Amino acid sequence: MEKRNVTAGERDDRVPRHIAIILDGNGRWAKKRGLPRTAGHAAGSETFRKIAYYCRDIGVEYLTIYAFSTENWKRPEGEVKTIMRLLDKYLHEAIDTMERDGMKMRIFGDVSGLSPELQALAARTDEIADRIDGFQVNVCLNYGGRDEIVQAARRYAADVAAGRADGELSEAQFARYLYSANVPDPDLLIRPGGEQRLSNFLLWQCAYAEFYFTDVLWPDFTPEELDKAIAAFRSRDRRYGGVK
Ligand code: IPE
Ligand code: IPE
Ligand code: MG
Repeated sequence: MEKRNVTAGERDDRVPRHIAIILDGNGRWAKKRGLPRTAGHAAGSETFRKIAYYCRDIGVEYLTIYAFSTENWKRPEGEVKTIMRLLDKYLHEAIDTMERDGMKMRIFGDVSGLSPELQALAARTDEIADRIDGFQVNVCLNYGGRDEIVQAARRYAADVAAGRADGELSEAQFARYLYSANVPDPDLLIRPGGEQRLSNFLLWQCAYAEFYFTDVLWPDFTPEELDKAIAAFRSRDRRYGGVK
């Protein structure tokens, strides 16, 4: 798609405002090549960089990517370690380049379950993100949709007990307790890798997202594949329960 610098008040409606992606298929990509699964994660992290810049350049406002779920701890220790090392590398990089590249990065997930080093990096990226306006990348790390809803319910209950909130709860109020507070719901959810399930991703936020599934494995995903997903999105008729 055409690259454009989108300024407030002027955006191309043909481009989804918020795209969410479940990065899947790294392990199978590596297996096909006779490589260890960890090589798939390294390749997948390069794809992520490319796609993030592409989204920024075509005028997407928010990109949310599922990088590590609350269930992914079940994997072999070596694989988890490699993923954490790649995330550590990416966070360091983001700290150095976010402002220059106009990319605001936020972490969605239970950061308290991560190593002290990753927690410190997440805090640092948050500080920098506060100073940036524009394209936002949300990296879901130790993220689970159910966990997010339960944590939000706990924080709401604590606010009620402390007199900071009344017992009347609307959907909009509840959404402010989620990691995605202040972020509009995804318009388009993409899952590469061939599976057609959510795997506990953005359960609340995807109520009206358009889903796009492809067999392409994440490390093979390209800007052209993203264009295909966007073309499919454009052909959808979003009714939100109404009639058109
Ligand atoms: C996605 O790729 C990355 C993470 C879940 C961290 P997978 O590792 O799930 O790859 P497959 O699905 O086994 O091919
Ligand atoms: C979903 O992929 C989680 C992430 C991409 C982080 P999985 O590979 O963990 O999902 P399942 O096990 O196939 O449902
Ligand atoms: Mg998988």
